[in-house]
Amino acid sequence: MERRTIGAAALEVGAVGLGCMPMSWAYTASQRRGEESLRAVHTALDLGASLLDTADMYGPFTNELLLGRVLKARRAEAFVSTKVGLQVGDQHVVTNGRPGYVRRACDASLRRLRTGVIDLYQLHRPDPDVPVEETWGAMAELVTAGKVRALGFCAVGAAARRGAGPYDAGRYDAVLGQLERVQQVFPVSAVQAELSVWSPGALWGLLPWCAARGVGFLAAMPLGSGFLSGTLTPGEGFEPEDARARHPRFTAYAMASNQALVVGLRQIARRHGPQVTAAQVALAWVLAQGPHVVPVPGTKRERWAAENARAAGVLLTADDLAEIAALPAAVGSWD
Ligand SMILES: NC(=O)c1ccc[n+]([C@@H]2O[C@H](COP(=O)([O-])OP(=O)(O)OC[C@H]3O[C@@H](n4cnc5c(N)ncnc54)[C@H](OP(=O)(O)O)[C@@H]3O)[C@@H](O)[C@H]2O)c1
Repeated sequence: MERRTIGAAALEVGAVGLGCMPMSWAYTASQRRGEESLRAVHTALDLGASLLDTADMYGPFTNELLLGRVLKARRAEAFVSTKVGLQVGDQHVVTNGRPGYVRRACDASLRRLRTGVIDLYQLHRPDPDVPVEETWGAMAELVTAGKVRALGFCAVGAAARRGAGPYDAGRYDAVLGQLERVQQVFPVSAVQAELSVWSPGALWGLLPWCAARGVGFLAAMPLGSGFLSGTLTPGEGFEPEDARARHPRFTAYAMASNQALVVGLRQIARRHGPQVTAAQVALAWVLAQGPHVVPVPGTKRERWAAENARAAGVLLTADDLAEIAALPAAVGSWD
């Protein structure tokens, strides 16, 4: 697989990563199978998808424990990307950016992941009750202590989801302000935010900021939470705990309206060969947005981990990209 270099610390990873969240969080809980997830991680590594993206809150904790079972044997092949700053309570997920908590959380992640060092430690969400410089300063101390190699900043949130375009790039002002503030404390190596064919907003707000500073960009939800693969049926519904059960893009109406996007991706896939899928074209589009961009498609299935890793071999033409740019904007928003 093509390798990409991200961040001031010049971190090298496979062009496509693996999002591990669906193995323990957010989607179709009834279909989680530990052994299948382990095979998915092994397959990703076999195919060069080295960046494994997790978080302490996925599960909570069980996703890191699962990865630890693979890392025990294959640490050298993997690039471990985890997150701190969100805690799962009885009723709510809450932010915690207090320095003492960050230090304890890092030690606990290292134990669960069965590794001595985390390659990329990301701030999952800034804590509104703690100056972001304080949280980031504590994370920087972990680099100095040799527990972490580089720092990342997650900017997944309402602004990124709303499909901001050139007309409202200002939606990212708040997060860009935070990025500038933490840069004064310690270099940001990667920003993680939503980027996909149906949520291209980061192209105008965040990607140029990253490109200008040599900061990597990890594209979360590059498959539109599965929708862009064309494997979800409008109106079929979701399990009550599935994040999509409450997502405005996953109402039966929005899903039916947005089928035009899947049709467009499938047409392009067909031109690239009988084995090429809409999901792979969606990932190839993300890869085409810059050499500093690494999609982290999430899955709990071995078959899809392999399919997604192989998307690195699908090279879109200028005509393909123009066709995707001409697809209709997605229906369904948080606004
Ligand atoms: N920093 C943050 O706050 C944040 C937020 C969201 C996500 N993320 C990261 O970004 C990663 C990716 O985002 P995501 O997992 O939410 O969304 P995604 O990658 O857009 O889509 C994941 C969904 O697509 C399905 N899928 C995956 N590959 C497929 C394929 N080839 N064909 C058909 N369906 C496929 C998966 O099904 P199965 O579940 O059945 O495998 C899963 O339900 C996460 O895993 C996580 O690491 C970070």
